[in-house]
Amino acid sequence: MCGIVGYIGKRRASPVLLDGLKKLEYRGYDSAGIAVLDQGILRVVKRQGRVEELGAAHSLDGCIGIGHTRWATHGAPSARNAHPHVFRGIAVVHNGIIENAAALRALCLARGETFLSDTDSEVVAHLIAHAFCGDLLSAVIRAARELTGSFALAVLREGGEEIVCARKKSPLIAAAGEGESFVASDIPAIAASGRRAYILQDGEFARLTAEDVQLYDENGALIAREGVVLEEGELAPDRGTYAHFMRKEIDEIPRAVQNSLFSADYFQKNGFSEVLCQTEYIDIVACGTAYHSGLCAKAAIEELLRIPVRVFLASEYRYTRPIVRGDALTIAVSQSGETADTLAAAQLAKEKGCKVLALTNCARSTLTRMSDLLLVTGAGREVGVAATKSFQAQLAALYSLCAALAYFRKKRVPSPKDLLPLCGQSIRESAAVAGWAPCFAAARNVFFLGRGADRCAALEGSLKFKEITYLPAEGYAAGELKHGALALADETTPVVALAFDERLAEKTMNAVHEVYARGAPVFLVTCFPALCGQKEVSSFVLLPACEPAFSPMLSVIPLQLLAYETAVFLKNDPDKPRNLAKSVTVE
Ligand code: G6P
Repeated sequence: MCGIVGYIGKRRASPVLLDGLKKLEYRGYDSAGIAVLDQGILRVVKRQGRVEELGAAHSLDGCIGIGHTRWATHGAPSARNAHPHVFRGIAVVHNGIIENAAALRALCLARGETFLSDTDSEVVAHLIAHAFCGDLLSAVIRAARELTGSFALAVLREGGEEIVCARKKSPLIAAAGEGESFVASDIPAIAASGRRAYILQDGEFARLTAEDVQLYDENGALIAREGVVLEEGELAPDRGTYAHFMRKEIDEIPRAVQNSLFSADYFQKNGFSEVLCQTEYIDIVACGTAYHSGLCAKAAIEELLRIPVRVFLASEYRYTRPIVRGDALTIAVSQSGETADTLAAAQLAKEKGCKVLALTNCARSTLTRMSDLLLVTGAGREVGVAATKSFQAQLAALYSLCAALAYFRKKRVPSPKDLLPLCGQSIRESAAVAGWAPCFAAARNVFFLGRGADRCAALEGSLKFKEITYLPAEGYAAGELKHGALALADETTPVVALAFDERLAEKTMNAVHEVYARGAPVFLVTCFPALCGQKEVSSFVLLPACEPAFSPMLSVIPLQLLAYETAVFLKNDPDKPRNLAKSVTVE
């Protein structure tokens, strides 16, 4: 998604801004720009494509500036639509969506103003310029009252010596250092040990000068709040010797799992006892990979505990009038804790009277602030846009929750801790998938097949594959294949079959026979050695056996690696897939 950086201090702003934008690249974007005040005059450089294209910005002088990476929503990716947008000496960068942009634009046009882009954001510069009567903060506050939708804003004024910021439903963090201040939409862009960070809340504004960061409420009253000192762990991540963050993050799965397992004791000491004793119904709301974690949790909790679990795509939950029981425990799963649809679904669940448990990797995210109960996974920062280690971390937490539900009901289920030593082993055993890449890179379509928990893993495998190879892939229930999709099977459609449940493995192999008979090459991921020798199997990954209901934690590892190896084979950048964003803060 879009990224914001801003700097005011003694240094030249442009290198600081460009460096900040590089650190936000992992969020996904398609154009970039910066505006610097050079002796009070606004200078703007905007380009389509990567931050590297902003080379001309290096020559900009001046110690105050704002920058932006844009992920197109309103208007095509182009230099014209890139931010900052400038109107009458006001420069604005914006994350989010201005929902009433069309109406506001019409008002501006009626005043005889002209627009240079197709974006919803440009109208913000017009409103601020219009509201300006000598004080930028008051103008931004007045303009913000006119806006509906979501926004994080950083604003400069020609001749000014400040940056003014605003936040509504889109993250924004200001930070104060020695004689300099920063603003960004995400911590890595501004983090340096010892800086004091101020996380803006909805409806708050900030004024940054070289000396200080000050926060204001929507009436312009000063808010007294101590900033938090940034720690080492929050600094920009390092790729080390790895070619890509995604590969490094797959190797970090064992640690992510270890840091995301919770004991029954933990649940007891952190206020979960009553909910875990009483919960009869569970709803899970999430998007993308987090949705697949929810499906895996459903498979495990229903299989092992017979507690009904419904899993909703957050975007569907919020608009399809779900029939919600007020006594259901609603688990909102989100790596970032900032996904707009998941936040809205969690809010709706609260309004229906449900207790909301937030499961997130970001302790200071918006989701954590709106939840009744909180589980923070310890995956560490995940830079690759396509989620990897955060998936296994979510499963570790959700399987821990399953074990805790059992504990509080005096039932017994296998311990998810047993999975921990098997994660590293699974990464090592998956090395064979590198050899599969040429076949998958040439595919017309790819199927991932399984039943039960294996099907949940297949869905995540196909999502990963699509995200970074740009090739069509489908996760499919093995038993459903012959009701339609089998029509696609031929020698150009490699099939990955998953088999981790003894009761279902032979049934899944029936689907393997069916696709093999139509010429499809078959690749098997299983824990059963006997299946690997079957003549239909071109190649296999044999993983350690575990509780079948928990097996997606292991079985998804070779699928993540297969997507990675195929993307690299195709010369795609697996860390920054086209059109996708790490954290989707607009609906
Ligand atoms: C984006 C990312 C996915 C992620 C999804 C949900 O689409 O590219 O990798 O699974 O958002 O994100 P969340 O932060 O809510 O888990």
